[in-house]
Amino acid sequence: MKKNIDPLLSIEHVKISCHNEGKWKTIVDDVSFQLFRGEMLAITGSSGCGKSLTAHAIVGLLEKGCRVTHGQIIYRNENIIDYDERRLQELRRDEIGLLIQHSLNGLNPIQTVKRQMVETLRHKKWDKNNIETSLHSLLNKVGFSNPEHILSLYPFELSGGMRQRVLLAMMLSLQPKIFIADEPTTALDVINREKVLALLKQLQQELKLTILLISHDEKSVKKYADRVVQMDRGGVVL
Ligand SMILES: Nc1ncnc2c1ncn2[C@@H]1O[C@H](COP(=O)(O)OP(=O)(O)O)[C@@H](O)[C@H]1O
Ligand SMILES: [Mg+2]
Repeated sequence: MKKNIDPLLSIEHVKISCHNEGKWKTIVDDVSFQLFRGEMLAITGSSGCGKSLTAHAIVGLLEKGCRVTHGQIIYRNENIIDYDERRLQELRRDEIGLLIQHSLNGLNPIQTVKRQMVETLRHKKWDKNNIETSLHSLLNKVGFSNPEHILSLYPFELSGGMRQRVLLAMMLSLQPKIFIADEPTTALDVINREKVLALLKQLQQELKLTILLISHDEKSVKKYADRVVQMDRGGVVL
């Protein structure tokens, strides 16, 4: 059914190489998949097969030692690989949000949730007079019934699951068209894993978000994703 419409994002025969010990080594070798508007697509595959590299390539955030050597990443009929840094920044701010792996460590330990959320909102043209209301509504969306209290806390006062939900709220404040979540549940216990995945599903449906969910845990994402693609070491996607 989805095959009849144009994909929102198309990864076409992408190869990614990394420089290691004086040599270039191909890590992702010929990966292709398409992401359709409104769906939740899960990418699974064993650790080290290049899932995170692929996610980073999509938003132009590959580390210095790594680069896309072949293929195209098509978004809005343009090849993202051709973008300069300014356009990539725009893409990350306005179009594709990436929640990076290990992002739980990404919250600033010495700033309250409120301060950090306000900082994120600054990247967008939010109505400054209504910032408090916006923060409350964002935190409500990710399942907090007491936003005022959450805003006053420091990251260490939140559980892993709560921190992940705060990070999701920060992502949502950027109103991305595509949301990429790279292993959003690995640092969480089983109950919080389920909660975060269920929340992603709910946000997909309520906000009509398009989600690329990356996880090495095929079993748990299968339940929530509309489609699952398997990535192999060597990069083959079925
Ligand atoms: N900056 C880098 N320099 C050299 N090699 C890297 C770099 N980043 C990743 N790699 C290599 O790419 C492999 C795949 O990485 P990654 O995309 O993180 O895998 P996954 O997310 O599927 O677990 C790693 O095992 C590592 O060998
Ligand atoms: Mg990874």
